[in-house]
Formats: sequence, structure tokens, C-alpha cells
Amino acid sequence: MTGDDDQRYEVLPSHRGDSFREHVIRAYKDSPDDWRNVLGDQLHFQWGVYDHPDSPRPVSLDEAGARHLERQLALAGVLEPGHPAPRRVLDVGCGWGAALRHLAHVFPDCPRLDGINISPEQLAHCADLVREAHEAERIHLYLCDAADIAQLPDQEPYDLVLVRGAITHFPPDVYENATEALARRMEPGGLLVISETLYSEEFLASQPPLPPDTDHLALGHRKSLRYVTDVLENSGFRVRDQRVLPSPEEAARWVLELKSNIDFHFPKEASAPLEAIRAMAVDLAVALLRNEASVRSIIAERREEGRLM
Ligand SMILES: C[S@@+](CC[C@H](N)C(=O)[O-])C[C@H]1O[C@@H](n2cnc3c(N)ncnc32)[C@H](O)[C@@H]1O
Repeated sequence: MTGDDDQRYEVLPSHRGDSFREHVIRAYKDSPDDWRNVLGDQLHFQWGVYDHPDSPRPVSLDEAGARHLERQLALAGVLEPGHPAPRRVLDVGCGWGAALRHLAHVFPDCPRLDGINISPEQLAHCADLVREAHEAERIHLYLCDAADIAQLPDQEPYDLVLVRGAITHFPPDVYENATEALARRMEPGGLLVISETLYSEEFLASQPPLPPDTDHLALGHRKSLRYVTDVLENSGFRVRDQRVLPSPEEAARWVLELKSNIDFHFPKEASAPLEAIRAMAVDLAVALLRNEASVRSIIAERREEGRLM
């Protein structure tokens, strides 16, 4: 364990030392307060759902982020009355902890929720949230690369796993290893809830690679829906749903709202990752509206043991 006073998070040794990992860690090293100005108080960083027939009032980024997560949980069926509460949850790439906190609230009877991340700065913030919420008994945090999921202690299988916004950062070998390892650590019938920004194959073929020295958000490993779902199916998952969510219009609105917050709070200069969002927001909004990029909600189910691989 590491931390100032009591337990904060457990550090699992990594067997990977590639430079892209350092790139991702750098993208998230700035103060959560800077990010809060851009993403909202709760620090959800995986798009937002705005549209709601009962709510004509403006929708905040916090609310849009939470609605997106809730919509995905509903699509997975885990919020249905009578659906048993998950017994063990894992959030892969848990950011600043917004989804973990939400899940702990939605599933008060779930005895164990784990979060993994490679950003020590984000995990320190998560640990503060856990302590403030008096949830240290149930929420366990690990400084752990998704490629090392097999090393997570305690082999009790997970029945609900979230991977929201992290696959975008994974080099292909990390995505493939992590997906295989997840299948081995999940219960048959267990649910995997993914949200990811994916690109059309034509768009990927037409785009030059992002130069590493200007890729301050570590987005260099862009992927297509077909690649992501093929790896899932080949690793022991059955894809149940792969719809576009949020809609292109909502996704464009979300990224332009981030840019507007950066322009307001950091009119002259922001940190390199925030400058990268400012620089790409309009092009990304256009790509979303043209369906060259889309945000996909993928719900996959871990197949029965005998059919793994
Ligand atoms: C776009 S953020 C999404 C955060 C969070 N899931 C949410 O919905 O707000 C991506 C997260 O994935 C984490 N991440 C990226 N690569 C990772 C890896 N190889 N292993 C573990 N976490 C990783 C990042 O540190 C970051 O916390």
C-alpha cells in the first residue's frame, strides 16, 4: 500500500515498460482542479447524454456524464427490478473515481468494487473520494496496468466490469491481453460495459498517424468497431449490444462544451492535454457528425467456460 496516512491504493508491479504507458500517465498528471474547470465537479470523462424528454432545463456536464453511465447500466439490464446486485465490480481505467462512486451508490448491497488505473495522480484523488464516502471497506484501488489484470489479487470472479474511455489509450497488444485476462477473471454470464470512441475504417485508412510528440492526450492508437468487437468475440465474450450512444449531436455538444470551458478558464494557455482538447474539439465534432467517428456503447457477456477461446 501507499499513501500519507491510512491505506490509499495498492501498487501492482508492471511487466510492461513501453513509452506509450508513460505518455498516458503524463496526460492525466495535472491537478484535478484544472480538469474540474473543464469536465465539471464530478470529473466524469467519457462523454455525456443530454437528451431527456422530461428535462427542458440545461443539463450540466456532471449530469450528462452520470446519465450516460446510467443509460449504459440500463442497457446491460443490471438496474432492472429483480436483477441481483453485482457481487464484485471492476472499473478498468477508473479516472478520478466518478463511476466507482456512482456504482457504490447504485449498488449498496455490492460487497466489493475494485478500480484500476495507471495514473497515480488520479488514484490519489479516487482514494480521497473513497475516504470521504467511508467506502474503504468496499472500494479497493490498484495502481495497475490493464495489461496486468491477471495479477489482481483475490481470484473471486467479477460479475460486472466497466471499461469506459480507457481502450482509446491502449496499444493493440494491451487491449488484446487485457480482454483475454478479463475473460479469465469474469464469471460466465458476467457483463462487460464498454464505452469507446471508435473510427470508421475509411477514416482510419485516410488519416496519418498522430505524431507522438504532439499526442498530448495519448490518443495515438485509434481503433475501429470491428477490431474492438472481434477481439471481444475471440477472447470469450458475446457482444449483445453495440449501439451509438451518446448520439453524434450529443457527443459533438459535449466536446464543444469542454472547449468552451477551456476557452473561458484558460483563455491564454492551458496544460498540454487541455490544449490538445482545445485544438481537436471542432474537428472531432465534425467527424462525429459525419459518422467518421462515433461513441459506441458495447455490452458484452462472458460466455460459458467451455466456450472460452
Ligand atoms: C478517458 S479516461 C476515462 C476515465 C473514466 N473511466 C471515466 O469514465 O471518467 C481514461 C482512463 O483510462 C486510464 N488508462 C489508460 N490506459 C490505461 C492502462 N493501460 N491501464 C489502466 N488504466 C489506463 C487513464 O489513466 C484514465 O484514467
